[in-house]
Amino acid sequence: MKNIAVLISGNGTNLQSIIDHIEKGKLKCNLAVVISNKADAYGLVRAKKAKIPAYFIDSKDIPREEHEKRVTEVLKKYNIDLVVLAGYMRIITPHFIGQYKNRIINIHPAILPAFPGTDGYGDTFNYGCKVGGCTVHFVDSGVDTGPIIIQKINPIKENDTLESFKKRGLKIEHQALPEAIKLFCADKLKIEGRRVKIKK
Ligand code: GRF
Repeated sequence: MKNIAVLISGNGTNLQSIIDHIEKGKLKCNLAVVISNKADAYGLVRAKKAKIPAYFIDSKDIPREEHEKRVTEVLKKYNIDLVVLAGYMRIITPHFIGQYKNRIINIHPAILPAFPGTDGYGDTFNYGCKVGGCTVHFVDSGVDTGPIIIQKINPIKENDTLESFKKRGLKIEHQALPEAIKLFCADKLKIEGRRVKIKK
């Protein structure tokens, strides 16, 4: 069984969805550790409730390399096969990516390559798009540019507000991320250039 780490910065509803999928037997992997760069991230509470080792590793005023060294020390301790960025609000360095080449995935709340960056929902909605959604992708050295594993569509309704669009979008994210992890853990993902092939 593969060991996975989830990195968070905030509420951790995607983390919760991974925990729930594992508890229900819908996802077979060992969620070995949760790491947050924010002390007050509610995701840390979720991890503790689920009895998953949880670490706060501060990133404020700490050189990026030093922070990542601390993170990778923990990842090595738990023999991590897959690093899942789930609302982790930090750009990671090529050095970190190199250590976990093709083994880091991220969930982004927009249909990439449209609207990379920190506000996928707001950017999609305020642009006036008729559809939004989410993307799970491998992480490369760009911002939200890595090969795409899964995309799910969230149509924007006539009477939507940003809040209602986002609320529905999060529910879709909560399906997409475990689905991508499941494919990774079953060795079903093959990267061919920019394309990620899903093996039968
Ligand atoms: C999600 O919208 C995710 O796509 C984005 O940050 C948000 C995290 O939400 N990267 P949560 O912490 O999982 O609730």
